[in-house]
Amino acid sequence: MSTASKGLEGIVAAETVLSFIDGEKGILEYNGIAINDLAKHSSFEEVAFLMLNKRLPKKPEFEAFITDLRGSYGLSDHTLSLIKSMPTTAQPMHMLRTMVSALAMEDPEPNSIDIPEVRVKAVRILAKAPTIVAAFDRLRRGLDIVSPDPSLSFAANFLYMLNAERPTHTMERAFDACMILHADHGLNASTFTCRVITSTLSDIYSAITGAIGALRGPLHGGANEGVMHMLNEIDSPEEAEQFVMNKLAARDRIMGFGHRVYKSYDPRATYLKTLAEQLATDTGNADLYAKSSAIEKTMAREVASKGIYPNVDFYSATTYHSIGLKLDLFTPMFALSRISGWAGHALEQLDGNRLIRPSADYVGPHNTQYLPIEQR
Ligand SMILES: CC(C)(COP(=O)(O)OP(=O)(O)OC[C@H]1O[C@@H](n2cnc3c(N)ncnc32)[C@H](O)[C@@H]1OP(=O)(O)O)[C@@H](O)C(=O)NCCC(=O)NCCS
Repeated sequence: MSTASKGLEGIVAAETVLSFIDGEKGILEYNGIAINDLAKHSSFEEVAFLMLNKRLPKKPEFEAFITDLRGSYGLSDHTLSLIKSMPTTAQPMHMLRTMVSALAMEDPEPNSIDIPEVRVKAVRILAKAPTIVAAFDRLRRGLDIVSPDPSLSFAANFLYMLNAERPTHTMERAFDACMILHADHGLNASTFTCRVITSTLSDIYSAITGAIGALRGPLHGGANEGVMHMLNEIDSPEEAEQFVMNKLAARDRIMGFGHRVYKSYDPRATYLKTLAEQLATDTGNADLYAKSSAIEKTMAREVASKGIYPNVDFYSATTYHSIGLKLDLFTPMFALSRISGWAGHALEQLDGNRLIRPSADYVGPHNTQYLPIEQR
């Protein structure tokens, strides 16, 4: 009889001071601070500092951090030429995964696991990832690349590079809040991947590249794109209920619902729901919000008793669409933010590292005779 915990549910595999989750009560804190307070009062750049340093910055530290981060937005000619060589039909997550990996090749000391040096590398990766995504997106649209503007915040600069115009304050704040909400979330699949790779004393580029690969899956970060596909399949809010009922009857999953840890409303979804409603109304996407709302209502009636509620991906789809982001950029947006959390976990892992190496229950046969290929 196997003792394996399928999906490692309930297994505690690391200690962290970065995020705390109470799935029953719907609480998420970064280093003790409620996610709602951070989304309302902080900035993604401040949260990124928190992830990399396990605390909020003092003013001079924050100024130095911002100068460093914003000063690292730019890409080398080599990196730009690599992006230009990508097929324009490539999916942005595959492109981003490849490009983060490629950044290692222009680092003279890519393999250093000295904690302060890894922190510096993490800031560089975090700063360059939005530039990579925006450059690729413009190239595939047949547009010129827009160089980053180091006078702009992480959020504003990304939207500027994407659209060649500075975002409104509302758009900047909305996108910044999305970045804050996605920065870290305990030992989720991609963060675990990052920590496993780091535990082998491999480099930060490999750890983040692997994490991007894990994030892409539709059961993890890829769910936000799944939500948008679903919303596109539903013609009107009135049809949403029947759509959900058909899916549930077929035992299909409704993307953006359910969570391994939350058995109540995901606090990130609470915040995003309000944001989505406001942005959708402001940008002429009220119908999209109405469809989401109708799906939620049906899901609440049908499956809330099983602890299935909207997760972070459900309302981020409407939010990102209202900000004007293309569907296949939704999961890369998750990655741009989560790089900060992954890097924070890599730093935590390096501090007192032990190789992560669980075991498997062998459930196959024993004493099997080897048969030459002709006899099988
Ligand atoms: C996130 C997720 C993978 C968690 O999975 P998990 O902890 O392994 O939970 P399980 O897959 O064991 O599901 C438990 C039960 O809830 C149901 N369920 C879970 N998520 C569901 C969803 N989104 N829609 C419909 N039913 C769902 C399962 O069918 C299962 O029902 P059963 O017990 O009658 O068989 C799962 O909820 C899911 O696939 N959600 C959709 C994808 C998504 O939004 N991912 C983003 C997460 S932030």
